[in-house]
Amino acid sequence: MITCTKKKPELFNCDLLVYFVRQVEKGYPECVNEEISQQLKLAVDSGDFCGKEDQFLFFYPGTQTNLKTKRVILVGLGKKELNRETFRRAGGLVSVQALKTKTKKMLVVVPAALDFSADEISECLAEGLILGSYSFTKYKTKTDEDKNTKIAKIVFYPEKYAVAVRKGLQKGIVAAECGNKVRDLANEPANLWMPVDFGLYASALAMKPRMSCKILETKDMKRLKMGGILAVNKGSAQPPRLVILKYQTKKSAPTLLLVGKGLTFDSGGISLKPSKGMDRMKYDMCGGAAVLAAMEGIGAEQPNGINVVAVVPATENMPGSAALKPGDIITMYSGKTVEVLNTDAEGRLILADALAYGIDKFKPEAVIDLATLTGAVVVGLGHHRTGLLANDDKLAARILDAGERSGEPLWRLPLGEEYTKQLKSEIADLKNIGGPAAGTITAAAFLEEFVGETPWAHLDIAGTAWDFTEKSYIPKGVSGIGARTLLELSRTWK
Ligand code: BES
Ligand code: ZN
Ligand code: ZN
Repeated sequence: MITCTKKKPELFNCDLLVYFVRQVEKGYPECVNEEISQQLKLAVDSGDFCGKEDQFLFFYPGTQTNLKTKRVILVGLGKKELNRETFRRAGGLVSVQALKTKTKKMLVVVPAALDFSADEISECLAEGLILGSYSFTKYKTKTDEDKNTKIAKIVFYPEKYAVAVRKGLQKGIVAAECGNKVRDLANEPANLWMPVDFGLYASALAMKPRMSCKILETKDMKRLKMGGILAVNKGSAQPPRLVILKYQTKKSAPTLLLVGKGLTFDSGGISLKPSKGMDRMKYDMCGGAAVLAAMEGIGAEQPNGINVVAVVPATENMPGSAALKPGDIITMYSGKTVEVLNTDAEGRLILADALAYGIDKFKPEAVIDLATLTGAVVVGLGHHRTGLLANDDKLAARILDAGERSGEPLWRLPLGEEYTKQLKSEIADLKNIGGPAAGTITAAAFLEEFVGETPWAHLDIAGTAWDFTEKSYIPKGVSGIGARTLLELSRTWK
């Protein structure tokens, strides 16, 4: 989608030519192009532009200049210390403006004279541009406006450091496509994206080198006594799946296990959810989508020295006549018994089986699960940070760092005996709800009962998978969160 060129920007025929400039205390922001600098000075003198972050300026060179482009956009990078997010946001801003002006072809001048590495500038600009131009038009049947929402061609012109720019660009493209893939899967309605579809999708991914996939069906789950996922599935007419997608390098390399909640529709089951906003529960598979999208990125990059296994338990949670009922006691894959007091707390039931099975089978060095698990995380952290809970400080620190680098910030919440105690049942080993207090923590404490000593981290993305903090490169709706953080982890795992 994005390529590189050596052709001088002046000579480049396009709809939009993009320059980035820093804000300065005195004088004028710097731009290497003489003709553009003239325009920039006029704009600064008139008080219209100074290069502040999120500020932009359009102008139209016409025939008086040597520029071949229809428009120029100058984008402010502000005066604060630069970071990866600055460039993602700047890239996103360009995409939004490009879409508004129906730009089809643009040239982006990748700045060299900034206090930031060229490969990261290029990587993050690409992410912002690709994530920022996302739209989901698959189900619009007209070919007009609705469909005509793509920027056909984005070209990078590196002012310098062409090799680094190319390298960064490649990384940025893979990561952004991961994010957009999550959005594509999440946007599918629940009648057209069902547990079987998770299986089909993973089988297609398994065509890549080093990848293979195995899909467990109801009969396999019965044989393996996966009482959690089977219980949640009971009220649904759609069969469940447990999708296992492996990326295998050397046997001796450490294995990272990724588990994602693939609840394709959460009605709440017999503990039915209120109807207002229930449509959004088609997004309850965002964790599963993030995990599979990350695998797609890993399959594209083929990192050495690490094995990655993704496990996605996929089912609907429906109130059919055979459905799980409040008060039912079930036996999980691990052998533990659970008293189900609320059938809407279903995510932890399917994840517990997937975690225990994945750990048993693949003996991972670490396990990370992603799930839209609790409404309580929105109360605690709002839509700005993913909740992170972990039984291992080193793993938690790694994930916090990867999230920060990816523009997907997290905040760690505690675990502890006091919380686990809230899950004590009178008649079974555990109950599936811990009362109104600390809902996100007790949900994680429930999962903790199924991971043993394996270093484990849980990402509660219920607040960030959609309605995430408004940013230029995150259009309204599903954010696609999680996949880029996982990909970043896979890149730096060694
Ligand atoms: N999928 C929901 C969590 C959710 C709620 C995600 C709102 C996004 C927005 C989950 O299965 C659920 O229903 N959790 C319950 C747990 C409760 C019954 C202990 C919740 O958070 O209300
Ligand atoms: Zn639920
Ligand atoms: Zn759910």
